[in-house]
Amino acid sequence: MCGITGYIGYRDAYPIVINGLKRLEYRGYDSAGIMVYDGEQIQLSKTKGKVFDLEAIVSSDGAKKEGKIGIGHTRWATHGVPNDVNSHPHFSQSGDLVIVHNGIIENYDTLKKELVARGYTFHSDTDTEVLINLIEEVKKTEGCKLGKAVQLALTNVIGAYAIAVFDKTKPNELVVAKLGSPIAIGVGDKNEEFFVASDASPFIEYTKNAIYLEDGELAIIKKDKGIKVRKIDNDKEIDATIQELQLNLEQIEKGGYDHFMLKEIHEQPKAIVDTYRGRMLANEGVIRMAGVDDNLSKFLNADRIIIVACGTSWHAGLVGEYLFEDMARIPVEVEYASEFRYRNPIITSKDVVIAISQSGETADTLAAIKLAKSKGAFVFGVCNVVGSSISRETHAGAYTHAGPEIGVASTKAFTTQITVLSLITLKLAQAKGTLSTSTINGYLQALQQIPNQVEKLLAIDPLVRDIADVYKEATNCLYLGRGFNFPVALEGALKLKEISYIHAEGYPAAEMKHGPIALIDENMPVFVIATSKGHYEKVVSNIQEIKSRSGKIVAIVTEGDVTVREIADHVIEIPDTDEAFTPLLTTIPLQLLSYHIAVMLGKNVDQPRNLAKSVTVE
Ligand code: M6R
Repeated sequence: MCGITGYIGYRDAYPIVINGLKRLEYRGYDSAGIMVYDGEQIQLSKTKGKVFDLEAIVSSDGAKKEGKIGIGHTRWATHGVPNDVNSHPHFSQSGDLVIVHNGIIENYDTLKKELVARGYTFHSDTDTEVLINLIEEVKKTEGCKLGKAVQLALTNVIGAYAIAVFDKTKPNELVVAKLGSPIAIGVGDKNEEFFVASDASPFIEYTKNAIYLEDGELAIIKKDKGIKVRKIDNDKEIDATIQELQLNLEQIEKGGYDHFMLKEIHEQPKAIVDTYRGRMLANEGVIRMAGVDDNLSKFLNADRIIIVACGTSWHAGLVGEYLFEDMARIPVEVEYASEFRYRNPIITSKDVVIAISQSGETADTLAAIKLAKSKGAFVFGVCNVVGSSISRETHAGAYTHAGPEIGVASTKAFTTQITVLSLITLKLAQAKGTLSTSTINGYLQALQQIPNQVEKLLAIDPLVRDIADVYKEATNCLYLGRGFNFPVALEGALKLKEISYIHAEGYPAAEMKHGPIALIDENMPVFVIATSKGHYEKVVSNIQEIKSRSGKIVAIVTEGDVTVREIADHVIEIPDTDEAFTPLLTTIPLQLLSYHIAVMLGKNVDQPRNLAKSVTVE
């Protein structure tokens, strides 16, 4: 949560930091702030609201924008409500030090009491102000430089952080440190300029070279002199590896779409191809996945697979359960990472744990991985963000190649996660012999068709928009599906609630009669997935039950369907495919539907209230 960015070099820092904040705004957007040092004074502006509001404040508060060093922050509140005072950056008591912070200092209360006893006063409710004053106190009492003071202060801190700290008395350096929250350092030409950010997007047009700090590392970045990286818990210097970024600017811009979410929905055909390219040779019946191939015996000898994830990734995990059990005949449990990590689960070295995460930074998923590893399980990651914490923490893994997903509502992450899970399943089914060669080849051919089918499906956008117009005023909605499409019902409901704030519930269609049916009346839209091979007759009976109680039915059916068309109020057709792969298609109209309803209601589609793209706190 929260995005931090910074610059030190020969260019004006203000536009770089402000543009960086705009790119990081997906990480949190309840307040924003910036500090630029103009050679004499610290110019600091901050406000509740978005980066857009910050720019307005800077224009009106007369703060000078010149200066070749600056740091900025976009916030998702943890300690203290979103207001101007709690916004970052925060000054130390003397006014010499300035900090931006992403994460949580869990022992901030104890530290604060100690600092109050030493004469410090606090203006905000944040844990961050405690940290900057702790750094100041250490600097003063130890008589050391900023880097050492940050290092010593952090050894007293319990929690998670990515920080950037500036010291007015040493204005040619920035100190950054990381534990649990990500931080990347962009290295400019000839070591003359450096960028700091929660991810590489703020500096991608300036440099393709980046250092990703590891947990427990601290970097001292000096203008014209370069970077020194060391461990926080000892003074050992580290040779930081400079990575070449694959990201380009086009990928992180809207490309003519009104919203990132819409762009990302439309990117799915390409994202799915990118995810299976080089891994699936459908005509030869070959599936190659280095992370699975290299660890095949672990998967084949596993007593069970445990999938851990949160939110949309958890829904993809549920689809994975249906795939693995049906095709590869391996028992699967799908767990919310946040529950798994605290419920003392039974995990053995015969378990394979698959952790799914778009961002690769979700705190609960990361903690679940660490727990599983500590019990001896083999942990495999399915992540989108290359080099993310989860991808580094797992024993092996497979990236989804969805490209950057910036809209808070996950779309292409979901379909590419299912694609990876499908490939792993088929690979294991092949290795175990649980499916015949011809069946596997049939599945591979079907999977290869999916991107074209998604492309075709996206053309139904006008129909979905019309349906959205009919139901946009609903206050409650029900989503029903069975088998492979039960997780899609959950995902459809999540998409609607998170961006339009309409209450929605996803249910297995047959469970409706055990409770939710009481909710059905003429005001209740029910979105039912009724694909032709997925317990079709049973779902048709469920639809009849809704109809008999005057519910409004929007059905997602296989093209050519006749029966449901006669009963439902609206019908959306998807192309025919194997039932196992229908989630890759049925989810598309539900994404579009949520998108259009949210737009019609005037909601902020890409930055829904109270949310952030990656949840790096508990
Ligand atoms: O980055 P992750 O996949 O680990 O994120 C997990 C959830 O926070 C995420 O899927 C969230 O539920 C999305 N906003 C849903 O659209």
